[in-house]
Amino acid sequence: MLLIDPLVEPPNVHLDLPGSKSITNRALIASALASGTSELSGVLFSEDTHVMIDSLRKMGVAISLNTDSSSASVLGAGGALKGPSETLWVHQSGTTARFCLPLAALCGVEVEIDGDEQIKSRPHRELCEALESLGVQIEYLGAPYTFPLRVNGENLKGGQVTLRGEISSQFVSAVLLAAPCFPEELEIIVEGDLVSSPYVDMTIAVMRSFGADITRISDKRYAVAPTGYSNASYLIEPDASAASYFFAAAAVSGGTITIDGLGSQSIQGDIAFLDVLEEMGAEVVRSATSLSVTGTSSFSGVDVSMATMSDTVPTLAAIAPLASGPTTIRDISFIAKKESDRLGALVSELGKVGIDAEKTETGIIIHPGDPQKATVHTYDDHRIAMAFSILGLMSSGITLDSPQCVAKTFPTFFDVLDQVRAAGDAKLRVLAIDGPAGSGKSTLAKKVAEQLDLSYLDTGAMYRSVAAVALSESAELDDEAKIAAIADRIVIRFDGESVDVDGEDLTETIRGPQVNAAVSQVAANPGVRSVMRRQQRTWARIRGGGVLEGRDIGSVVFPQARLKVYVTATPEERARRRSLESGRTVEDITEEILQRDTKDSTRGDSPLVADQDAVVIDTTGKTIQETADYIEKLFLR
Ligand code: DC
Repeated sequence: MLLIDPLVEPPNVHLDLPGSKSITNRALIASALASGTSELSGVLFSEDTHVMIDSLRKMGVAISLNTDSSSASVLGAGGALKGPSETLWVHQSGTTARFCLPLAALCGVEVEIDGDEQIKSRPHRELCEALESLGVQIEYLGAPYTFPLRVNGENLKGGQVTLRGEISSQFVSAVLLAAPCFPEELEIIVEGDLVSSPYVDMTIAVMRSFGADITRISDKRYAVAPTGYSNASYLIEPDASAASYFFAAAAVSGGTITIDGLGSQSIQGDIAFLDVLEEMGAEVVRSATSLSVTGTSSFSGVDVSMATMSDTVPTLAAIAPLASGPTTIRDISFIAKKESDRLGALVSELGKVGIDAEKTETGIIIHPGDPQKATVHTYDDHRIAMAFSILGLMSSGITLDSPQCVAKTFPTFFDVLDQVRAAGDAKLRVLAIDGPAGSGKSTLAKKVAEQLDLSYLDTGAMYRSVAAVALSESAELDDEAKIAAIADRIVIRFDGESVDVDGEDLTETIRGPQVNAAVSQVAANPGVRSVMRRQQRTWARIRGGGVLEGRDIGSVVFPQARLKVYVTATPEERARRRSLESGRTVEDITEEILQRDTKDSTRGDSPLVADQDAVVIDTTGKTIQETADYIEKLFLR
């Protein structure tokens, strides 16, 4: 559950968004099939791209990842993919499921592919039939034309193949991507309308960057020469579908949001969403290296065909209630077969927030209205979750029932959303107190909070609570997804002293030796940190500020805090204080403290550091009162 905090100030921000999912997965395939090593930068790391990476690795491609620099180095198989020794598991990823079918055929041996229930219920028949017409044998291990299935491409040939285009452009892209490694030239003919055609253009653009030879005979006819791919250095653009949420947020809030690194020459069709916002009244500035939207006083309804940018339909539908007139979205019946039945989902969830929306023959009409407090069901569909988050910025009381589904394509979505709230957050009376274990920051934070008449939050107690619940459920601490799900599920209440988790008093438990031993690992889990950051920011927004004490408050949670303090003391002094509190020996505690310091300051996500704007205070030899008075003076200055 996540209650979306409304915006209190219009944003004025530049955002760096993660790389495009669609380009990442295409570039991974082209470089996996190329000869030599390709260097990809701007890579998106999300569930859908990890699924692709795992599948390619199983087919013998060596891929090394650098999550800090968002880059990947891919040693291509030169078109000779290996038969995997285990089933390819495509989870819920549509691109991986569709793209891996022809890739599996390139292995020339039997390859089994399977995935989650959600992907099994999406359409794949047209693609399977097209591959069968090219000599690929497919054995359906469950229902026909879906997963699980077994592909055998030993008799794969080139020639001509016909595909229907009304259901998904991914069928065409899938065959195109594998075609340079076919034994002979392949001609692809698209029958009927081609939905989402910009995605086929994107596929061709990426393929050409890796040396593929594609002739576009017409809009619906392509010839691909059997040249294979060459390795390349390739920069992936930020994700335009992800950008749509922020463009929408600017348009409805009257603020300005600029996305850097995404320009007017983008190969992603979803940048056409800007034309829709412009028609509704927003001001759009396009340059070669950035795109920017400013909301104006006018925001009118629109009548628009979105067949070529269907991933942005939920974005438009979620902000449409705020327009002055009705919005009609046309030509998108096919989105009923995406991660969820998106048309059904939108009508139903808009209804829950009190908005009148109805399905039409090919799309949806949304009427203007005043959104009401409600819990929105996300259908485990990342785009439904992200779209309703934008509506939640503009009205109070919108809660998402399963916010973590954004991880499919945009694991850092809620952190970026918090950057949109930065102007409002800068007005909060936040005092950030960070420092290592035993530095005296808890006692100090409590005291200063009292003196300043602010609420106090011990954020370490929150990480400890997650660790305590994980231990009580005997969860494996290195199962990051499971521990993050615990963080997301539990409700932690902290009243300045005691800690209550889901109605149970855990005040004692969270200070016990088992939690002490486990908490650093739990606190190093990026999924846990993301949930905790969200909760800590909400805690302060509700109270207009507060004293938050931890490790990353000034550096990450509230970089715009009114005052940041970094408290420290010598390890001996810190151990002496803990020894007085616990009765354990100083030596024993020094060892534990030093170990925990190392873990906290060397982890990848938000390591313990003194922020450059922080006032560093060494409390060795000082009384609590002295330091508290000093901090109070700095805060009120
Ligand atoms: O302050 P403490 O000892 O109760 O913190 C417990 C653990 O949680 C410690 O390993 C550091 C971690 N922590 C963190 O990583 N970030 C915070 N904001 C607070 C605590």
